[in-house]
Amino acid sequence: MPSPQLLVLFGSQTGTAQDVSERLGREARRRRLGCRVQALDSYPVVNLINEPLVIFVCATAGQGDPPDNMKNFWKFIFRKNLPSTSLCRMDFAVLGLGDSSYAKYNFVAKKLHRRLLQLGGSALLPLCLGDDQHELGPDAAVDPWLRDLWEKVLELYPVPQDLSVIPPGVPLPSKFTLHFLQEAPTMCSEEQGAASPDSQGPPSELQPFLAPMVTNQRVTGPLHFQDVRLIEFDITGSGISFAAGDVVLIQPSNSAAHVQQFCQVLGLNPDQCFTLQPREPDVPCPLRLPQPCSMQHLVSQYLDITSVPRRSFFELLACLSVHEVEREKLLEFSSARGQEELHEYCSRPRRTILEVLCDFPHTAGAIPPDYLLDLIPPIRPRAFSIASSLLILVAVVQYQTRLKEPRRGLCSSWLASLDPGRGPVRVPLWVQPGGLAFPETPDTPVIMVGPGTGVAPFRAAIQERVAQGRTGNILFFGCRWRDQDFYWEAEWQDLERKGCLTLVTAFSREQERKVYVQHRLRELGPLVWELLDRQGAFFYLAGNAKSMPADVSEALTSVFQEEGGLSGPDAGAYLARLQRMLRFQTETWA
Ligand code: 2AM
Repeated sequence: MPSPQLLVLFGSQTGTAQDVSERLGREARRRRLGCRVQALDSYPVVNLINEPLVIFVCATAGQGDPPDNMKNFWKFIFRKNLPSTSLCRMDFAVLGLGDSSYAKYNFVAKKLHRRLLQLGGSALLPLCLGDDQHELGPDAAVDPWLRDLWEKVLELYPVPQDLSVIPPGVPLPSKFTLHFLQEAPTMCSEEQGAASPDSQGPPSELQPFLAPMVTNQRVTGPLHFQDVRLIEFDITGSGISFAAGDVVLIQPSNSAAHVQQFCQVLGLNPDQCFTLQPREPDVPCPLRLPQPCSMQHLVSQYLDITSVPRRSFFELLACLSVHEVEREKLLEFSSARGQEELHEYCSRPRRTILEVLCDFPHTAGAIPPDYLLDLIPPIRPRAFSIASSLLILVAVVQYQTRLKEPRRGLCSSWLASLDPGRGPVRVPLWVQPGGLAFPETPDTPVIMVGPGTGVAPFRAAIQERVAQGRTGNILFFGCRWRDQDFYWEAEWQDLERKGCLTLVTAFSREQERKVYVQHRLRELGPLVWELLDRQGAFFYLAGNAKSMPADVSEALTSVFQEEGGLSGPDAGAYLARLQRMLRFQTETWA
């Protein structure tokens, strides 16, 4: 490969931005360009000054926040003391991925584009905004933009005369090669990665703690349609410490049935062990994989075979296919004109990689194992708010699409399937700061709004604050029915009796019209305004990211108007100021 000319840096929360970036990397390799693809926070940002050409691919998470793997970069790039000529040699392009149903649509990409111009970079192309809401998904904007991008890039770096562009139907070399071992070594996986007592620092993604599960108990009543689990782990001796508002990250595995089916369809032997070797010297091996590794370990712990495949999966699968009919269909799915059909086949019904492979059995059966890591993304850890030491509340995700088999959330279903009553169960986990930080001043009141499982982080916070003798704890809790999903009811009532907590409830389905936490917030407008405006209260919001956060924010601004006499724009500005002062904080999840 030629010397690296192009750098693709991504900030990705759900994996889409990473997938687009890797697609960019592959397309660069087809054009014989050296290209590095990295998460923004794993790139040494001071080197940017020496880069000739950088493509930034950035998602916008939640409420206009940068994704977790670009948070440090974000802080750095907005430092006030960066000279305005910091990037004067750099050509750049920014591709944003967002969802126009959110108020701060593609906020990160827009702000980054402006900032890079301010720091002296030259934009190779106008900003690209991919929108999840578009019926063809973000590709509707991304595809034409990429065409323009390659045109510009090839002007700067033409394909050398003695080489040609590698055409789309031909596979690029795989990133890794798998060297199969004749005999299984004695230690070929599972127990590796556990933090031993003498390991350095607290458990982390690379060295999770294998925490014994103590209890796994359904907390929704028998009549409730939703299965919500209260799961407790024993973290004795783990070196884990946390504060209220932190989250625990859990690394789930695929079910045994799925692993078996996958190995069968691909003709893999689960017991076979191998070592992994990168084809190019600057590509690191995934640190989470032990060396040597068994196929069983790779498939059960690493490959996200039940995720919904992206377009790049079909592109590569088409290249690898040796079956004429299947290959033609796969080529169609990976072409620009096939995107609508692909959406109907795959994204809309949430069809999984495993199911797609079963639909293309001739292709699946002939996939060279070297390509497994190019084809299938790694399983990502999932974050759960800590409800106390160390307890989490997990809603088991299950829903129906037009496919017969219900869709199931990988991590929540896996956790729910573990039964510590039938033998020891260990779960790889570690702790990370979450999005909520509670005030240090003892007299500052806190208003917490946590419907459903959103109440979890507030239990940890309330326990901590009550133990410190702090009053001024106001909790707005919402659920469907008092007797079916009112988590920790007795505990809240006990705290209320002791005068440690003000509890406000909204039971949405106990009367004809829905009653939500935001209705209660409006009813108690005078108190809320008094606490926020006079007593400097902090306001917290946690739970489902769908429409609840926007609805609660709207209720809050209407309280500012009614109780504080503010105009509409002033009420919005008041909320924005609270947010800047960290007196309005949110933690939401999909
Ligand atoms: P529902 O399912 O009856 O509509 C926890 O999930 C609680 O949050 C439930 O009572 C649920 O009510 C409620 N909820 C659903 N959508 C909401 C929204 N937009 N704002 C606030 N609460 C909501």
